[in-house]
Amino acid sequence: MSDASSLRPICITAVEELRQRVGRARREGRKVGLVPTMGALHAGHLSLVRASRAECGFTVVTIYVNPSQFGPSEDYRRYPRTLEADLDLLAGWADLVFAPENEAVYPPGFATWVDVGSVAEPFEGEFRPTHFRGVATIVLKLFNLVGADVAYFGQKDYQQARVVQRMVEDLNVPIELRVCPIVREPDGLAMSSRNVYLNPGERRQAAVLCQGLRMAENLVAEGCRDAGEIVARVRAAIQAAPDARIDYVALADPQTLRPVSAVEGRTVLLLAVRIGATRLIDNCILEA
Ligand code: PAJ
Repeated sequence: MSDASSLRPICITAVEELRQRVGRARREGRKVGLVPTMGALHAGHLSLVRASRAECGFTVVTIYVNPSQFGPSEDYRRYPRTLEADLDLLAGWADLVFAPENEAVYPPGFATWVDVGSVAEPFEGEFRPTHFRGVATIVLKLFNLVGADVAYFGQKDYQQARVVQRMVEDLNVPIELRVCPIVREPDGLAMSSRNVYLNPGERRQAAVLCQGLRMAENLVAEGCRDAGEIVARVRAAIQAAPDARIDYVALADPQTLRPVSAVEGRTVLLLAVRIGATRLIDNCILEA
């Protein structure tokens, strides 16, 4: 009988041990892949880990609920922490899990932040003003700690991926980035660690986000190009759910995230919606 726990990746908290183990893999000539996460892992996270495993000989998953990317009234304290289940899910896929303590990441006197400019300002940046500063800072720290060749991010957090790409370019960070497709539940809801906050009624209503995206794709396929019209139709579709409150529905340039007035070539449709007390985001690329 095979013992699944023997396939579980080693989980370490110490920076020194991380450097030793990654250094050893590198000396063995293995390409190192990094998947940064906050844990409460699901099939979306696992798709990134599998992409790394397909391309790299050594895959490091980091699990760290980064306090600096949560606003004061956000869900840092109650964010799901499921380390044992996470390690089970990663069995046979990841080579190493790095799950540091806060004290190791933000030692006393910590004072240096990464502020990414205009791509971090609209959308999530407007509703969560210090969020991307926290994200960019922890991601750069993880890049420096792990020293990976390639890092994997999900399109689920479209703006986050753009912020990280901008930072890597601007600061000459020696790492390659891959952005992987959104993994969805059967009804279309994008997988997210926060979906567990939804009660059954809210969970049913949460499908409206994806339905809004599909509606926009259909409108574009039928020849509609006007951003105002597409946004209005998507908003109406989302508002059909009684507990849905829209933070934003917007069409933007997929690189700069500046607003566009028409779908010409590739355009990203971004949305953030609260269903009851749970805030959900989703997006898709529209192609004229
Ligand atoms: P977290 O929300 O745990 O997500 C980790 C990675 O998984 C991100 O790159 C995210 O885009 C990706 N991901 C989440 N849901 C996905 C889905 N349904 N399909 C595909 N990919 C998905 O994003 C963060 O953590 C943090 O901000 C982090 C980058 C780790 C910095 O703290």
